[in-house]
Amino acid sequence: MNYVEAFGPVPVPAPPGFFRALLVGTFWFHLMAVQLLLGLLVISWARAVVGRGAETGPDRGIRHLPATMAILINLGIPPLLFLQLIYGPVFYTSSILLGSLWMGVIPLLMLAYGGLYLARYSPRRQCVPLYLGTSLFLVLVIAYLFSNNMAWMLRPGDFAAAYQNGASGGHLYPDQAQVFFRWLWVLSPAFALGAAWLEGDRRWAWLTVAAGIAGAAVLQGRGAPGVSGVFFALDYVLLAALAVMLLAVQDSARWRKMVLHWAILKAALIVVIRDQIRQQALAKEGFTLDLLAQSNLLSTTWLPLVLFLLMLAGAIGILGWMWSRGRQGVTL
Ligand code: HEM
Repeated sequence: MNYVEAFGPVPVPAPPGFFRALLVGTFWFHLMAVQLLLGLLVISWARAVVGRGAETGPDRGIRHLPATMAILINLGIPPLLFLQLIYGPVFYTSSILLGSLWMGVIPLLMLAYGGLYLARYSPRRQCVPLYLGTSLFLVLVIAYLFSNNMAWMLRPGDFAAAYQNGASGGHLYPDQAQVFFRWLWVLSPAFALGAAWLEGDRRWAWLTVAAGIAGAAVLQGRGAPGVSGVFFALDYVLLAALAVMLLAVQDSARWRKMVLHWAILKAALIVVIRDQIRQQALAKEGFTLDLLAQSNLLSTTWLPLVLFLLMLAGAIGILGWMWSRGRQGVTL
């Protein structure tokens, strides 16, 4: 079975590799926003629980949360478009298998977002730990549903059996241990990133090291068949580098700067490894982007592509301009 036999030709107006690059590139930004949100949320919640910042009004982490969530959601849209375009048949089917759980992402997201606004603006400061704790829990659940869907879409050979077991959805990925450690691995940089961003206690970053090692070890063992060990070796090297920074870099400002750069690299590596896992897993089931190219209904039309790239460059330029204006005084 392959793409063509299973789903018929797919209309894609450019070489699939072009969209794959855009998918990987745009997802990198979404992932960094997810990790930042989670880092800010965990640390702000922990601070609120022990009472820091509650009386004096929202601290920096809480003030940044609503805008970070807005940025995260907006940065999720581009990879969603590219994912649907080139992996539509498998991604749609895995979404249908999750069914109501997948549809639940939207209401959960609205509740999580609401909790951040309450923590930021509500005059009832004693409720802040509750608002933040609820949002944190919901964000973790949303991420877990994403991990389930991203793992499910790699097993098209099992779709029919799962559907026959229950056509009304609600099917989590069959190997929950694998999904749990994938989720842990993808989210693990959040602690270090949050601590660096908030100039907080650097010991948070040890959680990144521990969760990163556990997640990578299990994922490599049971969720990444065919993926070169070199990628995971690089992942361990990055985790070891973080441990060295924790032990050896005494100057706090320098440590924070190094960790922020580290987090950008680590997110890039996670994105590349996820892409490798996807390529290898789908190839084993007969789904490759080469076949997609062969089954393509449309030939490449360059003018819209060039216009698209120009607009993308323009939009990135505008975002950069807004960012620099923000740094000059307009706060988030
Ligand atoms: C609080 C909200 C969100 C959280 C915590 C979150 C978290 C995540 C995580 C952890 C993954 C990776 C899962 C894995 O590979 O195991 C992911 C993937 C993804 N997210 Fe989000 N997400 C959120 C909101 C959104 C929204 C609103 C969108 C779209 C508008 C979106 C679009 C995507 C897409 C398209 C992917 C997969 C990209 C790919 O596989 O190449 N996310 N998200």
